[in-house]
Amino acid sequence: MEKLEVKNLNHHFGFTEILRDINFTLEKGKILSIVGPSGGGKTTLLHLCSGLLDVEEGEVINTFKSSSFAFQEGRLLPWKNVIDNIAIGLLAKGEKKSQAIEKAKAIALKFGLEEDDFEKFPKDLSGGMKQRVSFARALVVKPSLLFLDEPFSALDIGLKKELQTHLIEISQKENISILFITHDMMEAIRLSDKILLLKADPGHIVKEFDYILPQDKRDDKFVYEESAKILQDKEIIETFELNSLEIK
Ligand SMILES: Nc1ncnc2c1ncn2[C@@H]1O[C@H](COP(=O)(O)OP(=O)(O)O)[C@@H](O)[C@H]1O
Ligand SMILES: [Mg+2]
Repeated sequence: MEKLEVKNLNHHFGFTEILRDINFTLEKGKILSIVGPSGGGKTTLLHLCSGLLDVEEGEVINTFKSSSFAFQEGRLLPWKNVIDNIAIGLLAKGEKKSQAIEKAKAIALKFGLEEDDFEKFPKDLSGGMKQRVSFARALVVKPSLLFLDEPFSALDIGLKKELQTHLIEISQKENISILFITHDMMEAIRLSDKILLLKADPGHIVKEFDYILPQDKRDDKFVYEESAKILQDKEIIETFELNSLEIK
């Protein structure tokens, strides 16, 4: 069975301790979220898991056959148009150009891009369209593991929900596992099988929350109610320093 296993992981940048004793396992077909405040070490953890950063202490064991990435800012190649940006991973895998373009177009439409957009370059796309391209590019290769670093953060609420719905649908259909990083409790509740709460200074996991209801059965009411519940959790309040915000 494919899985990603993190064992006793520590990380420092210089003399600063960033992550302390991180342990978790992401199993095949599951969506695992790491939730915590900005600066808490989430991106660092994702980079260690995905091999973008070298592990210095502890272990990351990744037996997934393939993986891909989507980031908050999209990170598209400015000199390539929408379809060529999406097709890039397929071409890198040695797929025939005509076939790669075909698949790129199909998934672009699925992610809400229109034929008129296909020839456009990133500089002519809105933030939302760039993010559609970024998701399409990450998913067109059918990765067994998808790394997501706050990919919805810059989007308005409607677009966020639309892209989340596509993501849930595709990941269920293709049995894709996801390691999802966010500071947004609500989106974690909408998407996750399990949420790990990462408290800062240094980043360490203080609690986990499990969600059994299948993602495609979670409506807004479920997400709002679960968010309201979790926002009263003592560890959540401390991790996000919510009590200091109360108006006295
Ligand atoms: N390459 C780096 N060199 C030194 N410090 C870094 C580097 N990358 C991140 N940091 C620091 O590590 C801490 C955690 O950052 P990050 O993992 O980006 O947190 P998050 O994604 O939760 O906002 C921050 O204090 C940040 O300034
Ligand atoms: Mg980050």
